Amino acid sequence: MTVHSVCNESDLAVGKQMAIKLEDKTILLFHLESGFFAIQNRCTHLFKSMTKGKVIDGCRIQCPLHRAEFDIKSGEVVKWANFPPGVQLMNALRPEKALTTYPVTIENGQVSVEL
Ligand code: FES
Repeated sequence: MTVHSVCNESDLAVGKQMAIKLEDKTILLFHLESGFFAIQNRCTHLFKSMTKGKVIDGCRIQCPLHRAEFDIKSGEVVKWANFPPGVQLMNALRPEKALTTYPVTIENGQVSVEL
């Protein structure tokens, strides 16, 4: 496990997200009402980058490709791939899979992510 210092708390306003490259990964860091959270950037369905994903209800990220939704805090699937109609046929081959989440800590206003 390696702890990476990624930004200052004030660099990311509540409701915002940013992509960060750490080691060989890109992660998404979110500042939600309830705090900072980090998840893997690639959707577990067909690996689309979610840097342009939509945040829904301040707690879920929607993949821009087939609209799977994930809980940002836990990484759990809330809704699996469902767009366009028919994509569900592929779901037998691509069963639901949660996103990896990464612990985030804040110390003296410095945000760190553990990989
Ligand atoms: S790649 Fe994300 S829902 Fe299909």
